[in-house]
Amino acid sequence: MRKAYIAGNWKMNLTPSEGARYAAELAAAVKEAGVDCRVMIAPAFVAIPAVVEAVKGSPIIVAAQNMANHTSGAYTGEVAPAMLKDAGVKTVILGHSERRQYYGETDEIINSKVILALSEGMDVVLCVGETLDERQGGRLEEVLSRQIKVGLKDVSAEDMARITIAYEPVWAIGTGMTATPEDADGAHSFIRATVASLYSDDIAKNLIIQYGGSVKAGNIKALMAKENVDGALVGGASLSLEQFLPIITYNK
Ligand code: PGA
Repeated sequence: MRKAYIAGNWKMNLTPSEGARYAAELAAAVKEAGVDCRVMIAPAFVAIPAVVEAVKGSPIIVAAQNMANHTSGAYTGEVAPAMLKDAGVKTVILGHSERRQYYGETDEIINSKVILALSEGMDVVLCVGETLDERQGGRLEEVLSRQIKVGLKDVSAEDMARITIAYEPVWAIGTGMTATPEDADGAHSFIRATVASLYSDDIAKNLIIQYGGSVKAGNIKALMAKENVDGALVGGASLSLEQFLPIITYNK
């Protein structure tokens, strides 16, 4: 049985004080509502310590949105896994399409980050997804298959228990265009089959696959009703309690 996992990717929004204020409200609301899914929030690096402090004692997971692919040294502007762990973070989102698109992250770079995060004992949310051109050109499966095979290269079967995959069609991110629940389920089922072929049916069956791309209170229920949709990676609608709470309480 896969436990629902809903994550909020704050991207480059919310300062440390804004983030801490909202995270404290969210922690109280999660407790009050008796939320039973796993809830994660990913603030900007500088907001992490304040947000970790604000959710102390709550089951909310605080994650990073990215991480260096080196352990330490002369890498100006980068943040190492040990720094994240020391700040109380043990989960990292890797391979987000904005990292791929705007910062030139290739599948190989993302794979090196995945391997490093796992070797540091961290959990990973690996993002994959096709652009509109790729989808319209009939290349959906080819793109997903490459992103998964290269992204997970050299990841052991045992470490797969610490991997979550987020399917985020690039054309649906921040555009208001959501994949239909059927589109999402189809892509998730392809991702699960790819993981089964690389590992085993059991590992594929236990893999949590989140959908991301314009997830809101109004569409979460229909998405989560699909067999292969196990959670969500939410951007815009994760930035306020008003919008995020109805998403994490979709089953209440
Ligand atoms: P969105 O972003 O919900 O604003 O579309 C999702 C994401 O990029 O993780």
